[in-house]
Amino acid sequence: MPNGIENTNGQPIRATAAQALERMFAAAADDGLPFRITSGYRSFEKQESLFKGYSERDGVAAAETYSARPGHSEHQTGLAVDLDDGSGFAFKSEFGKTRTGLWLREHCAAYGFLLRYDQGEQPVVGYIYEPWHFRYLGTEITLDMRARGIANYEEYAGAEAAPDYVR
Ligand code: DAL
Ligand code: ZN
Repeated sequence: MPNGIENTNGQPIRATAAQALERMFAAAADDGLPFRITSGYRSFEKQESLFKGYSERDGVAAAETYSARPGHSEHQTGLAVDLDDGSGFAFKSEFGKTRTGLWLREHCAAYGFLLRYDQGEQPVVGYIYEPWHFRYLGTEITLDMRARGIANYEEYAGAEAAPDYVR
């Protein structure tokens, strides 16, 4: 469990990611922009119930643009977090324009995190813009991606674009 960070759903993350998140939080708080955690590790069952709820509300095709099928979410790895600043934009694209959202975009790589689903990346990453979702990869990768100007992990890992599931 990351120490000293408000965590609205009380979900833990893996220890290495938690330590990196604590360092990132300290730096953000120093700059007057403390953030809170709205998601961390999710079990298969938790992802299943979320996806089912969204599918019933919006239809499966729409749900798939913003929620991973159970078994496919980075949250199930314990290496992804959703972050918010408490200003009313949790899980909204507007979060990307808040001071905290902009700070996280700029500084996340220094702590080993990647803004995983950036604007305009849906044809490659498969999901709409999620400025709140950060994936821990470690600084060896995130700083290398920055240095090389590579925006998404598919390209960096040499994986194919994944705009959709194999049907
Ligand atoms: N919202 C992201 C894509 C997930 O469900 O893991
Ligand atoms: Zn997320």
